[in-house]
Amino acid sequence: MTGRRWHGLSIAAAALCSASPGPAQAPAGPPVAAVELPPAPFGLSQVRQGPDADRRVAWWRQARVGMFIHFGIYAVPGRGEWAMFNESIPHREYAGFADRFRPRADAPREWAALANAAGLKYMVLTARHHDGFALFDSTANDFNSVKTAARQDIVRAFLNAGRDAGLRVGLYYSPLDWRFPGYFMPDLYAESAEGMRAQYQQEMARLARGYGKIDLLWYDGGGESWLGFGGLEFRDGWRTRDKAKPYAGRFSWGDDAVNAALRQAQPHILINDRTSTIGDWRTREGWGSVRDFDDRQPWELCVTLAGSWGYTDGAEPVSLAKLVQLLSRTATRDGNLLINVGPAPDGSVPANQVARLKELGAWLRSHGEAIYDTRGGPFLPTATMGTTRSGRTVYLQLLPDADGRFPTRIAVPALDGRLRIVRAAMLGGTGGRVGIAGQGGCQLLSLPAALPDEGVRIVKLTYSGDVMAERARPFPG
Ligand code: GLC
Repeated sequence: MTGRRWHGLSIAAAALCSASPGPAQAPAGPPVAAVELPPAPFGLSQVRQGPDADRRVAWWRQARVGMFIHFGIYAVPGRGEWAMFNESIPHREYAGFADRFRPRADAPREWAALANAAGLKYMVLTARHHDGFALFDSTANDFNSVKTAARQDIVRAFLNAGRDAGLRVGLYYSPLDWRFPGYFMPDLYAESAEGMRAQYQQEMARLARGYGKIDLLWYDGGGESWLGFGGLEFRDGWRTRDKAKPYAGRFSWGDDAVNAALRQAQPHILINDRTSTIGDWRTREGWGSVRDFDDRQPWELCVTLAGSWGYTDGAEPVSLAKLVQLLSRTATRDGNLLINVGPAPDGSVPANQVARLKELGAWLRSHGEAIYDTRGGPFLPTATMGTTRSGRTVYLQLLPDADGRFPTRIAVPALDGRLRIVRAAMLGGTGGRVGIAGQGGCQLLSLPAALPDEGVRIVKLTYSGDVMAERARPFPG
């Protein structure tokens, strides 16, 4: 085949598309992403679905992008939040980091200001990570930021700062606690495991009732499938627990009772899927895990901006292009993106991460209408294209191919007999005219030449009618 290639359809099909009215062209190229999700490695529970669930989760879907903050005494050694476990640091030695953990009292206000500058709509702080150190005034656990050198209720300061800045606020909480042998071997050390569960129940009751309105609870390390991770279990002899097989012993976290009490105290609260009770959204984790389109179950991908989740000395943030490409890939698959920062021991977010987040904020100011308050579709994404939609608008989002090139000619299949593209323009002040041609089953877009260094090119397509009801369908790849 000679001549120019139209992305989406071959040149022959494109010629046909412009010449003949009639049904949509059959998609060319490999099959697109499936709607079915593979089993999620961390997703433990199912999530609510239906009109009531949709109403509750509506603000969160509209928000689309949030800030995750992993903060704790692991910031002091600066080797990530798993340092205690990975390096087998004895608790009494690890606890010494609390003496050097004295964050500035105004750090939470800086986080909130940064979230706003970056265009992030909600914030989630680690109220307690797997090391057991609580950032709040825990009555069940003296290993906390009020009773050690910090002398501050960081969770309270965080919630107030976020609310004052107009952000939604959420807490991360890990029921598992590495200080308890009962976590590693819940059956052999049943008493210890029960003590750990009592701590979880009391701390959750305290957070549910003592800190005002909390918009979401981001559990991690809870549920039966994490139990005993890193420990031994007895199955014809002592062996390390097979990660692929969930814990099958006698201990239970009692998640149902904890979450029922939490929902009673905070009826609006959204809870993730990392406990054994029904949640409100599914979690995906890590740069390689954006996975498939899913517009039925709400879902969120969380990633680190630099290094580990907890402060990592000297870590470089990912490039802006990589960040906005991931944001686009997430939104076009109908998910949220939670971007993590790990503040230094004084509470400050490292300057290179602040700079990157501000760049993201600038990008969102010019391209945010293609992200916020949109839904994925009406076309299923491919490796280099995806769409979001809102009302009569479809945002066609283009990513560079393996050679870093963007397509300049796109064949857009018709949605149905009625809906036509009536206007097309580049988003974000890129400039240049977008041509529309074609009367048949698809319309052809000619885009201005791509500028270097663009992460994502977005074309705003205005349709002749509302595009929200269309079920997401394949887009030729
Ligand atoms: C993992 C890790 C953890 C991190 C979390 C964020 O489960 O245990 O350190 O907090 O993912 O999603």
